[in-house]
Amino acid sequence: MESKVIIFDTTLRDGEQCPGASMNKAEKLKVAEQLARLNVDVLEAGFPISSPGDFEAVREISRTIKGPVIAALARIVEKDVDRAGEALKSAARRRIHVFTSASDIHLESILRLSRQQNLERSVKAVRLARQWTPDVEFSGQDTVRADRGYLVDLYSAAAAAGATTLNVPDTVGYSVPEEFGELIAHLVSRVKGENLVFSVHCHNDLGLAVANSLAALKAGARQVECTINGIGERAGNCSLEEVVMALKVRKDLLGLGTGVATREITRASRLVSTITGIAVQPNKAIVGANAFAHESGIHQDGVFKNRQTYEIMEPSDIGLNDNVIKLGRRSGRHALKKRLAQLGAQLDEPQLDRAYEAFVALADRKKDIYDDDLLTLLAPESSEDGGFRLEELAVTAGTHGSTARITLEKGGKQVKALSEGTGPVDAIYRGLKEATRTDYELVSYAIQAITSGTDAQGDVTVVLGHKGRRVSARAAHTDVLVASAEAYLFAVNRMAVLKDVRLEFKGV
Ligand code: KIV
Ligand code: ZN
Repeated sequence: MESKVIIFDTTLRDGEQCPGASMNKAEKLKVAEQLARLNVDVLEAGFPISSPGDFEAVREISRTIKGPVIAALARIVEKDVDRAGEALKSAARRRIHVFTSASDIHLESILRLSRQQNLERSVKAVRLARQWTPDVEFSGQDTVRADRGYLVDLYSAAAAAGATTLNVPDTVGYSVPEEFGELIAHLVSRVKGENLVFSVHCHNDLGLAVANSLAALKAGARQVECTINGIGERAGNCSLEEVVMALKVRKDLLGLGTGVATREITRASRLVSTITGIAVQPNKAIVGANAFAHESGIHQDGVFKNRQTYEIMEPSDIGLNDNVIKLGRRSGRHALKKRLAQLGAQLDEPQLDRAYEAFVALADRKKDIYDDDLLTLLAPESSEDGGFRLEELAVTAGTHGSTARITLEKGGKQVKALSEGTGPVDAIYRGLKEATRTDYELVSYAIQAITSGTDAQGDVTVVLGHKGRRVSARAAHTDVLVASAEAYLFAVNRMAVLKDVRLEFKGV
């Protein structure tokens, strides 16, 4: 008999914590809508005490998103728990996720609490959370490096105080499958309490987050915390698409299933990548551009004769539809709206106007418009007003260096710059720095082709850094230099609107 695994998505909380991934409220809502379509069981919407923006986003998601349980994070502090409870008030089903630390190194260096003080405060916070909702989750960070006897006491106390889900995080991504599975089996057999769900939350520092999560499920855990594309702190979190598809494809071995609508996976992956500006590596399992591409002649021949020779899942299982051309130059607004809705984007009228304008411009430059091209029209910057806009770009390049002539527009005023550089991108970025009067560090620049052919759009991702903050942005254009300039400008615009500073947590 198949047993169900609860999928707890934390893209909007832990995923959003990774450098450059911060999203505004509208962007978070778009992702939340897609997560609901994906049918995740629990959607962790944010950490309400961390900033007014996070509080508002959790509140809005609680008000509008139907389907998943909506969760919010809180430290073992009264004001955190109350803030989470407030933000979740209008959710039909809500969960407060109370967390502390479990290892001595965290207790001594971060929280400055004894084990006993930590346990008592955890009990108090869980009890308070229970006054807001019967669905309370408890986590102790860094469980893998914690004392096992203390872990049993801490989790048993949290369960006695009313926690119904006990989450075991490998916060630093230190464990390996055998050890982590054994830790979970230890806790499942020793923690006292009735009807508890054991959950796991694995980070990917050693590239083992999915493997560790699967080992934990084998050992009795029944909830996995994960993110779309595996985004998250440092090397990221357990990737939702990988763990879900591993359970589906190897049901014969594991005997476990999820309620995830796997055909929504590709859309979810692309939406998160488009909104955060964090590109998916081409060889990423399940959602990478090459995950279903066969390059060698022998493989191509095999797949041609029988797909199962080299494919262990159908591309359609994850909603990959061979990228059929649906729209062309003569397609109208209605067709565009319908197709974008099928791809997971519900646009209001002003957004549709802008997307249609961009679509017509793209159709003028590019013969075949694929779904991947359409998704580039949804980049958040195409619907954000008020920042710098590229009006004109002229570049010369060659063996003797490059020059860029740039005209920007902001608030009805034009700004111009003429610059030189060692190559065209260098010349453009020097000119943009001058015209926008900014001096951000270019942390990274990456370019890849969307679809194929010489008229394919170049997809550029830029990460800018300034005073410890990192912001990423992405732009696509059939001219890679225009895409490079726009991605840079979007990041500059983003940096300007990100006033929502996360609090520095220095202990409870
Ligand atoms: O990695 C971690 O320990 C966390 C907890 C807050 C669950 O994200
Ligand atoms: Zn985490």
